[in-house]
Amino acid sequence: MRISFTVNGNPVVVEAEPLARLLDVLRIDLGLHGVKEGCGEGECGACAVLLNGRIVNSCVTPVAAAADGEILTIEGFCETDRYAVIEQAFSDSGGVQCGFCTPGFVMATEALLRENSKPSEDEIRRGLSGNLCRCTGYNMIVQAVQAASETLNGQ
Ligand code: FES
Ligand code: FES
Repeated sequence: MRISFTVNGNPVVVEAEPLARLLDVLRIDLGLHGVKEGCGEGECGACAVLLNGRIVNSCVTPVAAAADGEILTIEGFCETDRYAVIEQAFSDSGGVQCGFCTPGFVMATEALLRENSKPSEDEIRRGLSGNLCRCTGYNMIVQAVQAASETLNGQ
C-alpha cells in the first residue's frame, strides 16, 4: 500500500504493509538512522519520534498511523534553534554518555517542553518516564531538561 506523510518537512510516499513498523520505514526505507532501535517493544524510547507533535515509540507504531501526518525525527529537529538549546543542556549536564538513548530523550524533552515550558522536577521525571538510559542514572538528564527549560524561557 502507498502511504504518504511528511518527514522533517519533506513529503514522502512509501510502499509498505500498513502494519509495518514505522521504525523500519524510517530507518530502512528513509535512511533515518538517528531513530534507534533498543528494546523493539515500546519500553525504552530509543525509537521516539514526534507524530503530529506527539511523542510516539516508532517500534510499536504501524506506518499506517502516520498516513497524511507529520513526523519529526532527530534529523529534522537538529536543524532547529530549540535543538541547539536542548543539546547544549544535555552536553553541559553530562546527560550524554554512550549516546544511544539521547535522540529519544531529546525528542521526549522537546515534546514535554512544547506542552509544559516550565516543568517541575516531578513533571520532568514523569514526562521522560517512557525513556530508559543505562548510563547516566537520570539525574543529569533531569538537570539538562531543567537547564533547557530555563534557557528557552529566557531565564
Ligand atoms: S525501541 Fe522502541 S521503545 Fe524501545
Ligand atoms: S547515555 Fe548510554 S543509554 Fe543513555
